[in-house]
Amino acid sequence: MIKKFFLLLIIISSLSTIVVIFQNTDKSNSINVKSSKLIFCLILTTPKSFKNGRVRTILNTWAYKCDGLKFITQHLTLNSTEKNSHFEYFTERDLLLYPPGLILDAYSKLTDKVYRTFLSVYSKYSNYSWYLKADDDTYIEMDNLNNFLMNKDPEMPVTFGHNFRIVVKDGYHSGGAGYVLSKKAFLSLGEKLNENFTFCPNSGVEDVDVAACLRKLNISMGMSVDEQGKGRFLPTSINNMVEGDVSWLKHYRENIPKKDTECCSDSFISFHNMSPEDMIFLDSVIKVLRKKSSRNNFKIKFKDIYANFRQYKNFEEEILKKL
Ligand SMILES: *[C@@H]1O[C@H](CO)[C@@H](O)[C@H](O)[C@H]1NC(C)=O
Ligand SMILES: *[C@@H]1O[C@H](CO)[C@@H](O)[C@H](O)[C@H]1NC(C)=O
Ligand SMILES: *[C@@H]1O[C@H](CO)[C@@H](O)[C@H](O)[C@H]1NC(C)=O
Ligand SMILES: *[C@@H]1O[C@H](CO)[C@@H](O)[C@H](O)[C@H]1NC(C)=O
Repeated sequence: MIKKFFLLLIIISSLSTIVVIFQNTDKSNSINVKSSKLIFCLILTTPKSFKNGRVRTILNTWAYKCDGLKFITQHLTLNSTEKNSHFEYFTERDLLLYPPGLILDAYSKLTDKVYRTFLSVYSKYSNYSWYLKADDDTYIEMDNLNNFLMNKDPEMPVTFGHNFRIVVKDGYHSGGAGYVLSKKAFLSLGEKLNENFTFCPNSGVEDVDVAACLRKLNISMGMSVDEQGKGRFLPTSINNMVEGDVSWLKHYRENIPKKDTECCSDSFISFHNMSPEDMIFLDSVIKVLRKKSSRNNFKIKFKDIYANFRQYKNFEEEILKKL
């Protein structure tokens, strides 16, 4: 029975045919809970990720919980079949943002893409409390992010993410783990870019450039590790954090990563390098555990999340072997 359920999930995820449904009840609930903590999500992506279903998976797993949402891409050139298919969904709901002035979706233009996005959002949507920048291989646990921001002041000139302590004086956030700018930080940056676009470094290395510019504007990096020093924003995938070799992080990060499932906070916010399947697995695990925990009133531990996630992975690996 359980295996059948897993199999179904695998099939669903590999076909990427989950129907796009906004979970209205969830959404309105989360807005009520945090009233003034509105989060605008900016997700950097490319036309390829629309065509292969990655963007839909992001929307269905976590991004539908954002209060404002734009997928940032260069213009999608769609043929007639594609025009009549699921792409319409994104266009109709105004979920796409083509940064004005962006010509090429090249990695070397990443900083440019982000600055042009910030500029455009600054001029049209300056009414949110927090601005999240994520990549299309970032998984964000929106409920934990909301809780984390609950007692933070969006009027403080601050950003939160995975803190690296090299390259930029006073540090920078790993771009892949996603980072959040307070309203104050976002508006200062937007205002400056609007007034003088060359004020901010534009080398192409987005996370470093953005941080260097924020430092020029006296905006500081906040702390996001939990009370036990475990990371909330994680710069690689969940299985890599637990089972992989992350010794490289020692040279970068602010605090030494702990071993195994001690790597990550029970109230983790993000993972990077996540495949669409991993996003679906993790999302399912969290949903099930949340339901159980509210019924039986226990606190969800990261090690339980991981143990369950690992089962999905094992099953996926078994299936892939047989194909
Ligand atoms: C349109 O693009 C899709 C792939 O996204 C392809 O399968 C299809 O054959 C194309 N249709 C036409 C008419 O070119
Ligand atoms: C912010 O402004 C935009 C554009 O006017 C509007 O669509 C959106 O609902 C507003 N959001 C909030 C949180 O006020
Ligand atoms: C824009 O910023 C750059 C870098 O800080 C500076 O050299 C230049 O003078 C500024 N331009 C204006 C018009 O303020
Ligand atoms: C940043 O702080 C320094 C030192 O306090 C100050 O000289 C500088 O004018 C500030 N810059 C901005 C953009 O606020």
